[in-house]
Amino acid sequence: MGFRKSDYESYDYSQFWEDNKRLYEDRAERLALRRLLAGVDRDNKLFFDIGCGYGRLFNEYKDFGTIVLIDYSIKNLRNAKNKIENFLKNDPEKLSTIHFIAADATSLPVKSNCADVILTVRMVHHLDNPEKYFTEVERILRNRGLYFLEFANKRNLKNILRFTTGRMDTSPFNLIPSQIGETILNFHPKYIVNLLKRRNFTVKKIISVSNFRLSLLKKFPGTKTLIFLEKIYQKLFSFALFGPSVFLKSVLSGPEPEGTTGNKKMVLEDILICTSCRKDSLLFNKNKITCRNCGSIFINENGIYNFKIK
Ligand SMILES: C[S@@+](CC[C@H](N)C(=O)[O-])C[C@H]1O[C@@H](n2cnc3c(N)ncnc32)[C@H](O)[C@@H]1O
Repeated sequence: MGFRKSDYESYDYSQFWEDNKRLYEDRAERLALRRLLAGVDRDNKLFFDIGCGYGRLFNEYKDFGTIVLIDYSIKNLRNAKNKIENFLKNDPEKLSTIHFIAADATSLPVKSNCADVILTVRMVHHLDNPEKYFTEVERILRNRGLYFLEFANKRNLKNILRFTTGRMDTSPFNLIPSQIGETILNFHPKYIVNLLKRRNFTVKKIISVSNFRLSLLKKFPGTKTLIFLEKIYQKLFSFALFGPSVFLKSVLSGPEPEGTTGNKKMVLEDILICTSCRKDSLLFNKNKITCRNCGSIFINENGIYNFKIK
């Protein structure tokens, strides 16, 4: 299975962001995401946030026609659902177009060629088999579909300085992903770009993010000034890719598909397949989904469909 040991069931991930210590990183990521998503057609489009956590970035993509939030952690999904229900408490119609699925990103319960847009932020560093996840992204995305990805950049300025002054052994320049502690992988941008190219993606834009991530700078000159500088840096100096985090926009090549699969009324029956036998043979009941082919049962726990393979 692709899930590394980092366990999001036993701690509240929302705390990671909500104590204001990472306000700068949150703002910097939103800046990049807004730039990448600018001009993307949202009407009638089927959007996936894979590794959505507690739905931190939901308001950046809330206008897409149908939204599917996928995560391995039921706890994070529950928090995402609560947050989004609260946010959309006056708009039940919109809420009915948003779906919550517990699943492993390396084995998605999603039909092939159906997603218009896929987003993954701060998730690939947790996978022990990122290749398997990228194969799934290629499979579920339609031709000309858009893929937005954030990954941790091993070739960042801090690592380069530490390596060249002998304070770090692992080279930030080789393409092999480097392991940080037990659970985190950092990637060389070229490794990710090559991997995407091999899978018929064309990278359209790439942004260096959280370029001033230093505790000292957060104290002085402070987050407001850092964000001002970050905005300029992201626009002018992203080519150097020195930031600890990289956001990119890519498009899956291939002939334009006929018709549009994404439409506002798209329901889970149009989207899901069985994670056990990979067949499009699910029978939907109120509280459970049964696979007519292999008999697997997937439970709906208060609006969260559990497609994790036991
Ligand atoms: C650092 S959080 C990022 C959450 C969110 N994208 C954000 O930026 O706020 C990583 C998330 O990836 C999820 N995750 C890790 N491995 C996964 C896997 N194999 N399949 C699905 N989700 C996974 C975790 O449960 C966690 O919610």
